Amino acid sequence: MGFTGMIYMVTMVFSLIVLILSSSTVGFDYFQFTQQYQPAVCNFTATPCKDPPDKLFTVHGLWPSNAKGNDPEGCKTQKYQKMQILEPQLEIIWPNVYNRTANEVFWRKQWYKHGSCASPPLQNQTHYFETVIKMYRTQKQNVSYILSKANIEPKGEKRTRVDIENAIRGGTNNMVPKLKCQTNGRMTALVEVTLCSDSNLTQFINCPRPIPPGSPYLCPTNNIQY
Ligand SMILES: *[C@@H]1O[C@H](CO)[C@@H](O)[C@H](O)[C@H]1NC(C)=O
Ligand SMILES: *[C@@H]1O[C@H](CO)[C@@H](O)[C@H](O)[C@H]1NC(C)=O
Ligand SMILES: *[C@@H]1O[C@H](CO)[C@@H](O)[C@H](O)[C@H]1NC(C)=O
Ligand SMILES: *[C@@H]1O[C@H](CO)[C@@H](O)[C@H](O)[C@H]1NC(C)=O
Ligand SMILES: *[C@@H]1O[C@H](CO)[C@@H](O)[C@H](O)[C@H]1NC(C)=O
Repeated sequence: MGFTGMIYMVTMVFSLIVLILSSSTVGFDYFQFTQQYQPAVCNFTATPCKDPPDKLFTVHGLWPSNAKGNDPEGCKTQKYQKMQILEPQLEIIWPNVYNRTANEVFWRKQWYKHGSCASPPLQNQTHYFETVIKMYRTQKQNVSYILSKANIEPKGEKRTRVDIENAIRGGTNNMVPKLKCQTNGRMTALVEVTLCSDSNLTQFINCPRPIPPGSPYLCPTNNIQY
């Protein structure tokens, strides 16, 4: 093979590698189902919430994730479809807490960023949103409900991290959740709770990748307001 042939070969092999790498999508090995406590979200936002918050944990998102390495994002450019039939339910469980007039903006963003990466097991947009409704309502993965069953009501009291964690474990087959707190110097509030499931959504798992020590979102041992 001559020099030109060699260059040709190298170029071909290189192109093939680039093609393979760019066409393969980042996989995932578990799901995070993250819910946010509306009053806390509204307290810690720079731009005030347009609508008064309810004392409820509602959906932030269902995210295909990796225990090690990066989570997939923005996988398919399937156009977002309007969801007439599901919207009344999504308005309740998955509102845009900042501005409920813009619920659809929130749903669209979550679909493009996360939902588009959830196949399999979640095959398409309808399947993705229907599954979240099913998880929150039918399977009672409603964090407000889980806490309430353990007699932890949203009264603005100071709780310990262990009490909150144990209450959640009571609703997740004793698996460890991920808790996110925020503080303003005067008080620390519970802002988000994440329940983790395996990659086919058949069972809860201990959440990998806890919030690291030193992070501003780490929940302290005591005095967490909820
Ligand atoms: C939100 O802020 C108000 C006013 O400062 C306070 O009374 C309330 O306890 C806070 N709630 C949460 C969950 O942060
Ligand atoms: C709320 O969302 C609507 C619809 O997108 C928008 O027109 C409005 O400006 C938003 N309001 C605020 C306060 O962000
Ligand atoms: C979406 O996926 C579900 C579950 O696999 C399937 O039943 C349904 O037909 C699909 N819908 C569309 C529009 O492809
Ligand atoms: C979630 O649980 C709370 C507390 O039990 C309850 O008030 C709320 O209605 C539930 N939401 C749904 C959609 O089931
Ligand atoms: C679901 O995933 C778990 C582990 O990720 C596996 O053990 C199990 O066999 C899977 N179940 C189904 C029905 O695919």
